[in-house]
Amino acid sequence: METDIREQLDELFSPYSGERSDLIPILQKVQEKFGYLPREAMRKIAKFLSLPESTVYGVSTFYAQFKFVPTGKRIVKVCRGTACHVRGGARILREVEKQLGIKPGETTSDMEYTLETVACIGACALAPTMVVDKETQRKMTPQKVAELFSNISKAGENVS
Ligand code: FES
Repeated sequence: METDIREQLDELFSPYSGERSDLIPILQKVQEKFGYLPREAMRKIAKFLSLPESTVYGVSTFYAQFKFVPTGKRIVKVCRGTACHVRGGARILREVEKQLGIKPGETTSDMEYTLETVACIGACALAPTMVVDKETQRKMTPQKVAELFSNISKAGENVS
């Protein structure tokens, strides 16, 4: 597995010359490839760019887009902004938690879904909202949430 990651990283680094300015694009590529930033990748990035590992971690923790633990194939984001809150956002989140069997910040055991909450997704007029697989779901109700996840048969087995 480690060897596999190393080979994939070598391939991923190949278009870059090892400049310091390559750091963010490389972090983005690695996350795109693995869904998160594996420890081994952080070490290799630091070596490739001749930077201390602490700098690579420092930069990557600054940006919320970077993750350090594996996430599910699909990211589910439930809006907790004011507009969504006053229109029943809490009920939507509860229903999503029920359907997936996880809490915000957790991933289903089959690595299918990761649940997150966000401050606002910019569609307040269509509140309450959520995003599944980058697709915005508008004017949600608990029933619509249940329908959306109706293909998930093993929600009860899912844990963080
Ligand atoms: S507050 Fe939920 S979309 Fe803006």
